[in-house]
Amino acid sequence: MPLVESVQPDAYCASPGEVYRRAARRLWYDTLSAPPDVLAEAVAVASRMDPTPGRVQAAGSFEDVSVSAVLRAALPATASGSLRPRLEWYTCRGAHFHNDAHYPDVLFGVWYLAGPPIDLVFARLAIRLRMHVGDAAVFDPFEPHAVLAPGSERYRRDDYVSAPVSVFLGFELALDEPVRITFMVAPPGKPESNLPVLSSAAAVHPETGTLYAAGHGTPL
Ligand SMILES: [Fe+2]
Repeated sequence: MPLVESVQPDAYCASPGEVYRRAARRLWYDTLSAPPDVLAEAVAVASRMDPTPGRVQAAGSFEDVSVSAVLRAALPATASGSLRPRLEWYTCRGAHFHNDAHYPDVLFGVWYLAGPPIDLVFARLAIRLRMHVGDAAVFDPFEPHAVLAPGSERYRRDDYVSAPVSVFLGFELALDEPVRITFMVAPPGKPESNLPVLSSAAAVHPETGTLYAAGHGTPL
């Protein structure tokens, strides 16, 4: 079961005005065998998209029982029943650091299906996942993350202006009890003022992933 555990301190995940859980302490990272028709569709998606450098761009949602079956078979058995049926294509030419804290009820999954080798980088966790075609990952959308050229420490827009398009098949795991246990998502617990807060209001430095408190210029 290829789960990657963070050794970094906990963080709170908060919706506006409310702390409701801690960040997932585990990610999942594995290589899946992609059916030829899915790979061909990813190449077709790449050819019709022209994403702005640095930004992840959605390219259409769909449901496909055979694709979901491949994902379920590969995911940790304790979490595979939590896979939601909706799938979505995402494209980018690199992606600056950001979080997706407007998705409070799911963990995100990405299956990399077209493009050059890239690094999926989680700044706070100090975790870097090298993604080749066929590799997949599941992570907490509240964690700051970026898509960078292999080995890059910072996002620099100029590096991606003429980069080939990367295509991910996105999926979601419902944040139910089995997923919370598998990915070590704890309840908020006793408030600890020194823990970072991951939310839509926490600014993420786009080049480095450093977290800043809303309205403040000092890193958390
Ligand atoms: Fe994202």
